Amino acid sequence: MQKPDPHILTIFGASGDLARRKLIPSIYHLYLQDLLPEQFALLGTGRKVFSDESFRDHMQEALETFSGDVADPARVETFLDCLYYVSIDTADPAEYARLKDKLDVLEQLLNTGDNHIFYLATPPSLYAKVAHSLAGQGLARNKTGWRRIIVEKPFGYDLASSRELNQQFREVFDEEQIYRIDHYLGKETVQNIMVTRFSNAIFEPLWNRNYIHHVEITASESIGVGDRGGYYEGSGALRDMFQNHMLQLVALVAMEPPVWADSSSIRNEIVKVLESLRPLSEEDMSSNVIRGQYTESVIRGESAKSYREETGVDPESRTETYIGIKFYIDNWRWKDVPFYVRTGKRLPTRVTEIVVHFQPTPHHIFSGQQMDELSTNQLIIRIQPDEGLLIKYSMKVPGAGYKVQTVNMDFHYSDLSEVYLPSAYERLLHDCMLGDSTLYARGDAVDCAWGFVEPILEYWENHPDHALYGYPAGTWGPQEADGLIEEKGMTWRYPCKNLANDGIYCEL
Ligand code: BG6
Repeated sequence: MQKPDPHILTIFGASGDLARRKLIPSIYHLYLQDLLPEQFALLGTGRKVFSDESFRDHMQEALETFSGDVADPARVETFLDCLYYVSIDTADPAEYARLKDKLDVLEQLLNTGDNHIFYLATPPSLYAKVAHSLAGQGLARNKTGWRRIIVEKPFGYDLASSRELNQQFREVFDEEQIYRIDHYLGKETVQNIMVTRFSNAIFEPLWNRNYIHHVEITASESIGVGDRGGYYEGSGALRDMFQNHMLQLVALVAMEPPVWADSSSIRNEIVKVLESLRPLSEEDMSSNVIRGQYTESVIRGESAKSYREETGVDPESRTETYIGIKFYIDNWRWKDVPFYVRTGKRLPTRVTEIVVHFQPTPHHIFSGQQMDELSTNQLIIRIQPDEGLLIKYSMKVPGAGYKVQTVNMDFHYSDLSEVYLPSAYERLLHDCMLGDSTLYARGDAVDCAWGFVEPILEYWENHPDHALYGYPAGTWGPQEADGLIEEKGMTWRYPCKNLANDGIYCEL
């Protein structure tokens, strides 16, 4: 595996939750796999005051809690020795001189060659300020070395703010230097969508409107908003999950084969899909967009609170914690094939999967074959948990006559027991270190995605009384979402925790 150039990775918001839970453990795992360069430093920064030593202690605790691989104290210590800290008020451009001084010292000390990654794990309101303040210190444009900036979501709040943010960044960084993170793209199984499609000859000929009846994508979470109520109130499921993660999944399922598996080929194809999304009309807002919010209930004997009772949430909130949308992609491949996408919090289980429903056979010759959805083939790409792939197809039940039954052919990643599955952040951070932006969202794609959701946001804003359906916590969302799939005899797939178990009592 290729090793990145020597560099310094600076994390803004280094004492925050994201850094402790995801970033530091991911970088530690890169270190354990010998994927960091010899000359490397991680510089934490933020308003909180730490010395290098106290920052290391703080991060040691984070590793012990969130890494799960700290058995060798000597290795933990060697890793922690790469960590440094400088305290600055990120909102004050004048303070960046101290950041620059610290970087200069580290650069000299470690011989990192003027290569820098800046990771923005701060509130989005600071993004533009940080970018411009870095530029003020000459730390933005590539010079003798390279500079890259990683931006966490949310990238914008709507189309106008996303465009504004893009413009702010591009004033000081080139597009090639901007890495907009969408952690779904870092998931192994998400990348496997492309491999499944483009390295097997059996799927691609069928992958179009002639053979696919509809596509269904579910991202359900069993957890509620927890302590993120304040953020979520201004976001909701549409902004939090659909505009980014869900639309990226749609793009990977629907894209044309790229010429090569490189950043610009793949990202060009992603943008083309997002540009082809058929805009939703005012009528669609009632029939094709269903929003819901979880209400209190009892889950496995324990009472679960409603969204409105969560900390930081308005007791009369109309923020959606569930969204189900039916839409179309207007291009040659997908014209008139419905895409059904749903995502929500406090649903029965945590599962993300894509279900490709193929057309039924044109003529049924076996009298024992049911003429409904069960008799169609399905390809299920399971993103999480029990990552894998499942194909449903018909087989003869042994015995007299021709009784037909649907059976499963499945592959589970867990069968590859000796293969290490890197976390999404690990993969994405390493890619950025190597200068590979393939799995990061490009500015035009983010804008297109906002362009698609914008009419929904506007409609809700202009029609505050538009239906927001309650659903008891622990159920599959509002009943009204069932009506999105209109075809007779068809429903959403109600997935189990285990990929292949459905249609039977299953563990949630
Ligand atoms: C984040 C959202 O981007 O993705 C969260 O802000 C959500 O609300 C999370 O819980 C889901 O990610 P994952 O990897 O757990 O499916």
